[in-house]
Amino acid sequence: MNRLEVEFLGVKFPNPIVTASGTFNFGREYAHLYPLAKLGAITTKGVSPRPITGAPTPRITETPMGMLNAIGLENKGVDAYVADELPWLKEQGARVIVNVFGDEPAHFAAVATKVSPYADLIEVNLSCPNVHGGNLPFAHDPQAAAVVLRAVKDATDRPVLAKLSPNGPILPVAAALEEAGVDGFSLINTLLGMRMDLDRKRPVLGNRQGGLSGPAIKPVAVRLVYELFRNTDLPILGMGGVTTGEDALELALAGARLVAVGTATFADPYAPLRIAAEVDRLLAGRGETWLDWVGAAHTPN
Ligand SMILES: Cc1cc2nc3c(=O)[nH]c(=O)nc-3n(C[C@H](O)[C@H](O)[C@H](O)COP(=O)(O)O)c2cc1C
Repeated sequence: MNRLEVEFLGVKFPNPIVTASGTFNFGREYAHLYPLAKLGAITTKGVSPRPITGAPTPRITETPMGMLNAIGLENKGVDAYVADELPWLKEQGARVIVNVFGDEPAHFAAVATKVSPYADLIEVNLSCPNVHGGNLPFAHDPQAAAVVLRAVKDATDRPVLAKLSPNGPILPVAAALEEAGVDGFSLINTLLGMRMDLDRKRPVLGNRQGGLSGPAIKPVAVRLVYELFRNTDLPILGMGGVTTGEDALELALAGARLVAVGTATFADPYAPLRIAAEVDRLLAGRGETWLDWVGAAHTPN
């Protein structure tokens, strides 16, 4: 019996543990460790219409139970990934969630069209700045987020997930996205934070502020997945600080049907597989399946 198998927006996943965008590149660096098809899925690094060189260094610093990053969405641009990485990744037999972004709706849409032949799902990163909206992230503005979503939906036949930001108003943005036709949600992206360098009396990161991830943000992720689940019938890909099988099950109880692992992979490249195996053991001990846990915290006693 496969306790972990789960269907999500018409795609069958062998297990619910996927990699988080920006923490697994396109998988090539990990392919010598294990077959990528063993993962629930790979979520790619964010892909934009043209190459982006990213933020000044330093780009990463550690925090209590977490890390701050300001990579600045560095990537080689969609054409390079369509030429080199995505066909290779599909050949590995992995399920692929392609994370796309841009600085205006048409740019998101152009990337979505180009990556669609290789994507099982498209994940739209709404945390990037809207250049025509005072550089406020799309995810902080329900109407701007909805315009992006409509453009992407028109540009692809793949199911589209909107990735929500914990730094903006989650429920109003989710409601506007649902109205615009989104197929599901992923959350949470990183929480904005800063660290100071006492010697230089300046922020540590080259970009001054960065995104906090890792175990420190898990309670925020559990709360926001829980709140969103109460307000939508669409499926949820949950993430934020997942390091163990127990963490993944907490997110499932809150309402996550799939769970992504990001920062934990930097310390242990086997983390997504280890976490899936831990979930399997915990479920086996109880004679239950993953689906018995999804949203179970919401059912009356
Ligand atoms: C180094 C790094 C790069 C990231 N890059 C992206 C990205 O390109 N697009 C995106 O939507 N999220 C990106 N994220 C956010 C993660 O996908 C994830 O939402 C967040 O880190 C919370 O999960 P975690 O605590 O398991 O890392 C990045 C996170 C990290 C740590």
